[in-house]
Amino acid sequence: MSNIDTPIIPDEPRKQIWAVGGGKGGTGKTVVSASIGILLAKAGNRVIIIDADLGGANLHTCLGIRHPSTTIADFLLKKVTSLDELLLETPIKNLRLISGANDFLTIANIPFAQKQKLIRYIRNLNSDYVILDLGAGTSFNVLDLFLISDSNILVVMPEPTSVENVYRFIKCAILRRLNNALNNSRFQDIFRLATEARGNESVKTLYDLLERVKQIDSSVAADLKKKINTFSPKLIVNQVRENDNISLGSSIKDITKKYLGVDLDYSGYIPYDEKVSESIKRFKPLVTEYPNCSASLCMNLTMKKLLNGSKLSDGQEEVEESRNEEA
Ligand SMILES: Nc1ncnc2c1ncn2[C@@H]1O[C@H](COP(=O)(O)OP(=O)(O)O)[C@@H](O)[C@H]1O
Ligand SMILES: [Mg+2]
Repeated sequence: MSNIDTPIIPDEPRKQIWAVGGGKGGTGKTVVSASIGILLAKAGNRVIIIDADLGGANLHTCLGIRHPSTTIADFLLKKVTSLDELLLETPIKNLRLISGANDFLTIANIPFAQKQKLIRYIRNLNSDYVILDLGAGTSFNVLDLFLISDSNILVVMPEPTSVENVYRFIKCAILRRLNNALNNSRFQDIFRLATEARGNESVKTLYDLLERVKQIDSSVAADLKKKINTFSPKLIVNQVRENDNISLGSSIKDITKKYLGVDLDYSGYIPYDEKVSESIKRFKPLVTEYPNCSASLCMNLTMKKLLNGSKLSDGQEEVEESRNEEA
């Protein structure tokens, strides 16, 4: 069929896939994913939230579902033929859950073909938003789910281990993103040096990597640069306990730019708030159970930033000030 015969289909608003990752466990990825899903659903969007922590699922608990009747394991074990069959209603209108596989230990390491199939089905889900709550670590499964997303959200907490892990996560994600373009014997040595855990002296930063590739093929280097420039994850600092912690987001942003050439968007911070664990213990979602606690208020402000990419809002600073006054 020639182009001229192709029917003109009006542009449908495209589904958005958002992934929440960050390397370390316990930073708040699941709490943040649940809150994002709920806030998007409450704003009238159709939302599907997927517990993609294949090794340690617990998103259902944050959404108030004690015993999910189906889980993603049913799909991976071919007990169902599509992800649609796994959709569970949640206490929140417009929000449906695909629960994680809690009792299936080996599923954390799904093989390549299964991962590709999972990704294809995720892309085909019928919803305005799909939120992926990722597990810890930098396995290819986690990185690939992070990289298929339209919005890449990172959750870090103010502890050196979490900061190290989030930096390593960003580095692994960008190298994984560049992997295809460099999957050629001409670049193998350079790529290997760049992926060395402690960073090889000769390819210490991604700028070094680009320079080395440029010496071999400038058009490949230009392509890599484009891939780096269009990768702009959004950073959330969670469990903030002191004012000093707030600037951590800017420090991580500076370091990531300096060594990896990646422009992070610092989307906001969420204070440490006892109400978070209280809501989990009560099997109730944080942002509906305690909508006015400081964590929920900051989550709302962060949400606005995630949606429109404006600067860290003054409102968030006001919340922080009132929190300090309360203390
Ligand atoms: N802002 C917060 N304030 C207080 N506790 C928090 C906050 N965010 C997360 N937590 C606590 O941290 C624990 C781990 O959070 P979770 O979202 O499960 O982390 P992850 O998914 O990154 O492993 C939760 O059980 C909760 O009690
Ligand atoms: Mg989690």
